Amino acid sequence: MLTYETSLDPEFKERFEEGAKLLQEKYTSLYGETKENYENLVGIIEAAFQGRKKDLRLQDNQRSRQPQWYMSEKLVGMSIYVDLFADNLTGVKDKIEYFKELGITYIHFMPVLKTRDGKDDGGFAVSSYKEINPKLGNMSEFEDLVDALRKEGIVTCIDFVLNHTAKEHEWVLEAMNGNEKYQQMYYMFDTYDIPREFEKTLPLIFPEVSQQNFIYSDELKKWVCSIFYEYQWDLNYKNPVLFNNIAESMLFLLNQGVDILRLDAIPHIWKEVGTDCFNLPQVHEILSMLNIIVDMVAPGSIFKGEAIGSTESIMGFFGDKYNGCSLMYNFPLSVSLWNALVTEDTREMQITLDRLNEYEKNRCFINYIRCHDDIAWDMDGETLRQLGIDSTAHFEYVTDFYLGKIPGSFSKAESKDFDSKAKEGRKTSGTVASLCGLEKAVEDANELQTDLAIKKILLLHSIILSYEGIPMLYGGDEIGMFNDPSYKDSWEKADDSRWLHRVSLDWARAEKRGDGETIEGRIFQSLKKLITARKSNPLFNSSLHTKFLETGNQSVFGYCKKNQTDELLVLCNFSGENQKINSKIMNSEGLRRELCNMVTGEIISLNEHSLTLQPYEFMWLT
Ligand code: GLC
Repeated sequence: MLTYETSLDPEFKERFEEGAKLLQEKYTSLYGETKENYENLVGIIEAAFQGRKKDLRLQDNQRSRQPQWYMSEKLVGMSIYVDLFADNLTGVKDKIEYFKELGITYIHFMPVLKTRDGKDDGGFAVSSYKEINPKLGNMSEFEDLVDALRKEGIVTCIDFVLNHTAKEHEWVLEAMNGNEKYQQMYYMFDTYDIPREFEKTLPLIFPEVSQQNFIYSDELKKWVCSIFYEYQWDLNYKNPVLFNNIAESMLFLLNQGVDILRLDAIPHIWKEVGTDCFNLPQVHEILSMLNIIVDMVAPGSIFKGEAIGSTESIMGFFGDKYNGCSLMYNFPLSVSLWNALVTEDTREMQITLDRLNEYEKNRCFINYIRCHDDIAWDMDGETLRQLGIDSTAHFEYVTDFYLGKIPGSFSKAESKDFDSKAKEGRKTSGTVASLCGLEKAVEDANELQTDLAIKKILLLHSIILSYEGIPMLYGGDEIGMFNDPSYKDSWEKADDSRWLHRVSLDWARAEKRGDGETIEGRIFQSLKKLITARKSNPLFNSSLHTKFLETGNQSVFGYCKKNQTDELLVLCNFSGENQKINSKIMNSEGLRRELCNMVTGEIISLNEHSLTLQPYEFMWLT
């Protein structure tokens, strides 16, 4: 049975024992009576617990007393690729001051673990859960960086790619050697009978590169499930041995000091014939067991879930203690932001977000404008229908707009085509600056368009920095990095347009960030100001929910948040024209008559009949 080091906090002992009891129940209910496997799992948990460093345990104890530490308004995130940002881990360590200067307190390192050689899906084809990609450094350098960041009050997150491994992972190599125990850790079949059944209902994820979810391995002489790229093989969670191995890998990573694990492609981890293999109930059972294990060894460490799907599936992942994810990507917000920028109409965004808010959940979103993936235009068809819009035609229009094909379009982008089997819209790639028109405006030496592009960039950031949840900037956007089409020259990247916006940070441009006359300085300094404002006001705490405001003007998006002492009103003009809103509307919300614009310091009177917002202007009023 689980033992416990009694010299530690008694509260800890209680939690440990409670977890063990629940874990056993859940494990037995999913895997049946399997004493040997369960005991192995117990051994893994014990070893990880004994191996946890003292400073991490102190932090665990603090966080157990304040389990919602991540809701703090002080948390402001940025995601970066280590190599694209500063070559390697030591390079990133040298740049800690840069994060501090902007006010970043949470860094999401895009995949850092060892991957296969050649194509590796941007690091998502992991070949070892316990080694750092040698191009970036080694595990002790990683631990050192995480420690250094912690000392500066910066939390860290890494990707835990648990749906699949690279086909070069040691478990696959064992399977190739004929070891059945390892073969059972993947979905491997001697004949095509079962794969054929799966294919009937399993959608394609990357239809542009593969038309099937099962591939034939000549080495194994078996059919293997591979729903992403052919070199990423799906793990079989029906096997308790696989679960134990994943639990061990997860604890190993948490013991390096990481605070947040991003659960990559989490809805896909359980597969059943006759279903779309997406978000099945067993996914949540597995997640619950992983939560219990985290709570036993590293309480306070949390999961961030990636579920690109319906409102229900996203919200279904938020959980209470022992369940679900503490953080979920606010994928609908990102898509709606880009939609509103094209249509100058914010109704779709409000209806979609309102639907998320209907869920009475302990929710905390990760709000982002764009991430390392492309913008998938599978906006809520229901919302569009409600607005009388044909979604397929609409997706085509917005993608064409971003491609620069529609007259008046300001953007530069690339896109992927519509796929009927996947029932997805087209997808768009491009950096925030290029999609907002900055690249084109600079090329055309058009000052007016440059100003407008910067305003659009700041408008979008003003929302992720004020909407309920944690803002996540994408590294490089803070200085307005442009698209980089040079990925087409690399055979490893050429077939994946997402590399268009995964760009190397140009440090020569970053050097200009202190000069308010430059583009870089205008963006960086404005963001810095917004971040400082956010961090200094508890109205931005993620626990405060957002209430939408009917602004009476479809181009103006409005919401408010209140606590006992204060209120915040956010107004955002998504159009290129001046927009007016009637002050009476705000009065009806019971807001104070005089508010202060946190950004400009100006006093705004709601006694005036109407309030005017300049093109792409936003206001944070308190
Ligand atoms: C997630 C990642 C994406 C990757 C996929 C497969 O969706 O965000 O970049 O291609 O998982 O691992």
